[in-house]
Amino acid sequence: MTKILEVKNLNIGFNLSDSFRQAIYDVNFSLEKGEMLAIVGESGCGKSLSAMSILQLLPETAEIKSGEIFFNGENLLNLTQKQMQKIRGKKIALIPQDPMTSLNPLYTIGNQLLEVIELHQGLKGQEAFDVAVKALEKVKIPDAKEKMKSYPHEFSGGMKQRVIIAMALACNAELIIADEPTTALDVTVQAQIMDILKDIKERFNISIILITHDLGVVAENADKIAVMYSGHVVEFADKNEILNNPLHPYTKALLNVILDINSKDVKTIEGQPPSIMDNISGCSFHPRCKDCMNICIKEKPNNVIRNKTIVACHLYN
Ligand SMILES: Nc1ncnc2c1ncn2[C@@H]1O[C@H](COP(=O)(O)OP(=O)(O)OP(=O)(O)O)[C@@H](O)[C@H]1O
Ligand SMILES: [Mg+2]
Repeated sequence: MTKILEVKNLNIGFNLSDSFRQAIYDVNFSLEKGEMLAIVGESGCGKSLSAMSILQLLPETAEIKSGEIFFNGENLLNLTQKQMQKIRGKKIALIPQDPMTSLNPLYTIGNQLLEVIELHQGLKGQEAFDVAVKALEKVKIPDAKEKMKSYPHEFSGGMKQRVIIAMALACNAELIIADEPTTALDVTVQAQIMDILKDIKERFNISIILITHDLGVVAENADKIAVMYSGHVVEFADKNEILNNPLHPYTKALLNVILDINSKDVKTIEGQPPSIMDNISGCSFHPRCKDCMNICIKEKPNNVIRNKTIVACHLYN
């Protein structure tokens, strides 16, 4: 298998009015062609920043301090903005939480699809129209030809997300980054969108990075999982390893939350994740960790390899 994406030792922070605050610490993850990698963790742990750094769509105050992001072997961080524009939307597509950040309410679905097809594939007229309709069919939009004439407001949230996925397919995107694509949808529609993502991954060998705070959403769909906490990837492994043999106490706590939801006894992990303004010594999870030892308060854990899992926890040092 070939690695389509490899993020290496990525460090990102914010230049705030009075100080520089680090938000992403030595983040590493990778995925092969045709794989789905899920990035999971509670709100504020750095999922979106890590993913958006791939597209170099970061807030203005954010700064990538160091690291490498290899896409098909090329370090994206060495590209100019102009070179990056050719990759964004064409080779790497983004599916945001709210589809209306990508759709224009004033234009028909068809017009918007045709526009990206012309921009990224240089196709026009009937040829472009056929590509657009086919893309809508690939995401199982019924009466695709007719739907080309619809406006976004005529579509439900789930249908709008399908259109965004169709845009990525129409441009032959190789990597799709989906940032909480189903959070705003109800549970049945969530499942349909996940099925579509899984289906296009398998049929067209597309690679997907799925960002979610819900480990339950990824349980059936992902190939690999990166668990993030407070700007660190604390555990990275194949899905089955993470689900069946979790190592990091935070991963175990996240899994307990899913189990408890299944038994209707809704529970969350006790305590709050830290903000980038907090200065926590040692392991940033130690204040919430059930297995906290003396060393955890003093020293940051290094990444260690256990079986095939990479884990950052003193329990395994
Ligand atoms: N523009 C900004 N200025 C300062 N801090 C920011 C900014 N954007 C994000 N952060 C901080 O960076 C950290 C990581 O943010 P990020 O958006 O990546 O989290 P996330 O895991 O995607 O969370 P969520 O699940 O809520 O989307 C958070 O602590 C957040 O407060
Ligand atoms: Mg986010």
